[in-house]
Amino acid sequence: MPPYLAGRTREKAEFAKLLDQDPVLQNLILTGLRGLGKTVLLETFKPMAVEAGWLWVGADLSESTSVNEQALGLRLLTDLSVATAGVVFSAEERRHAGLTAPVETAYKTLTFDTLVTLYTNVPGLVADKLKGVLELVWSYLSQLGVRGVIFAYDEAQNLGDRAEKEQFPLSVLLDVFQSIQRKNIPFMLGLTGLPTLFPKLVEARTFAERMFHVLFLDKLTKEENKEAIVKPISDSDCPVHFSDPSVENICSMTAGYPYFIQYVCREVFDVWSQKATAGEDAQPIPVQEILRKLDSDFFAGRWARATDRQRDLLKVIATLDNCALEFTVQEVVDRSVEMRGQGTLEKAFSGSHVNQMLVTLSEAGLVYKNRFGKYSLAVPLLDQFIKRQYSL
Ligand SMILES: Nc1ncnc2c1ncn2[C@@H]1O[C@H](COP(=O)(O)OP(=O)(O)O)[C@@H](O)[C@H]1O
Ligand SMILES: [Mg+2]
Repeated sequence: MPPYLAGRTREKAEFAKLLDQDPVLQNLILTGLRGLGKTVLLETFKPMAVEAGWLWVGADLSESTSVNEQALGLRLLTDLSVATAGVVFSAEERRHAGLTAPVETAYKTLTFDTLVTLYTNVPGLVADKLKGVLELVWSYLSQLGVRGVIFAYDEAQNLGDRAEKEQFPLSVLLDVFQSIQRKNIPFMLGLTGLPTLFPKLVEARTFAERMFHVLFLDKLTKEENKEAIVKPISDSDCPVHFSDPSVENICSMTAGYPYFIQYVCREVFDVWSQKATAGEDAQPIPVQEILRKLDSDFFAGRWARATDRQRDLLKVIATLDNCALEFTVQEVVDRSVEMRGQGTLEKAFSGSHVNQMLVTLSEAGLVYKNRFGKYSLAVPLLDQFIKRQYSL
């Protein structure tokens, strides 16, 4: 968690509205590029939900959860059992041999083992079994004054159907929640993931479009950016203070992207706190050095995995004015021809070639295709990194 979570007031208000729903008609998607603050915002939502009487369960969704439907089922039961393990679902009186022996009450609770037994006993497919268990669990939880249960999953873009293996864990998840919500059971899904997440859900089940309220996390505004920099060190005991020009400097280096704000501020703080003379900047911000370090920590790994020809393509993309927002295949082709003419690129790209390569780069997590068929860079400030590589 950041020492101060800047901005995100709209998102919190939207989430509060979702918590007020009765019955649950909409589920949450929190999406955005890497480092925009999805994970920490989801963490921030948790106490809000608990405060409003909801139980909160969940985990990070790894690729392995998505291997098959069984793995998904097991994931849901595992997470749910953490919240239900103390809930009694049967009490049985037992008397030991002999009339004067004391009566003991044996309580059975909704532990993981119990949930698995219930799951195994429900007939049908994975989806039927999950629905059965969830309905039963709710019949007990509802007696305890619980408002509902939120199933919060981070990195949910890892979920996916595997038609070739006849395994549809993503569709099962959507079917199960749609079905139990229709029965007025207040179990809500909260999914967090990269921008590929929502299109993936809609592709699996068209009804997903109506089932989710999508919050797209964007970079922070200038004002929020400043707050994220200044608030954590505003305490008068703090040995380090940033002057206005330094704050401006950090704002322009980080462009409102939380991960970079956190990274750069930490670097500056570490350097300055060693030399702190309270009340003034220790020295000018070592911009070049920090950028170089950021490049090697954050960007270099991804860059190293790209082939030479892919790097050429990314170089062309990085020179487009709109590359951080969205671009089309045709724009890339045209620019590559221009750059070929200027001698800054060896070979231009054809449309089909660009198409093909963008698919590969999407799989590598460097670009993504939005719902309107346009592309964007999938890593914040990647364009600036690429320009630094070529001193463009
Ligand atoms: N609103 C915010 N204000 C200040 N720092 C933030 C904010 N959101 C995120 N951060 C910081 O940015 C970094 C990336 O956040 P994270 O939640 O891991 O991003 P994501 O899950 O989208 O990749 C973390 O170090 C986090 O503390
Ligand atoms: Mg995250």
